[in-house]
Amino acid sequence: MPRLTFVEHDGTETTLEAATGDSVMETAVAGGLDGIVAECGGSMMCATCHCYVDDAWIERTGTRSESEDDMLESAVCEVRPTSRLSCQIVLTPELDGLVVHLPEAQV
Ligand code: FES
Repeated sequence: MPRLTFVEHDGTETTLEAATGDSVMETAVAGGLDGIVAECGGSMMCATCHCYVDDAWIERTGTRSESEDDMLESAVCEVRPTSRLSCQIVLTPELDGLVVHLPEAQV
């Protein structure tokens, strides 16, 4: 089971066990994290699951798609090169230990 650490804007860290095949967003919502809203439930119709992949992991999570890029234009907080929609990052055993940072706000 991959473990995943969320770092909130204030530096609070939460580590959750995730199921392989679940998304980062699904893991956050199941774990009750407030920093991920996920209004659309993962259908890439909002940007309220915005996260910043930790620099050390950016090579392994892959790059964002063109439609993900378009949707991120409506993100409330600054979009950075490491920005992703967390519903689009699917967890694999290789992502065990993944660290993502949460923006200050989602809505
Ligand atoms: Fe809406 Fe990810 S949950 S785009």
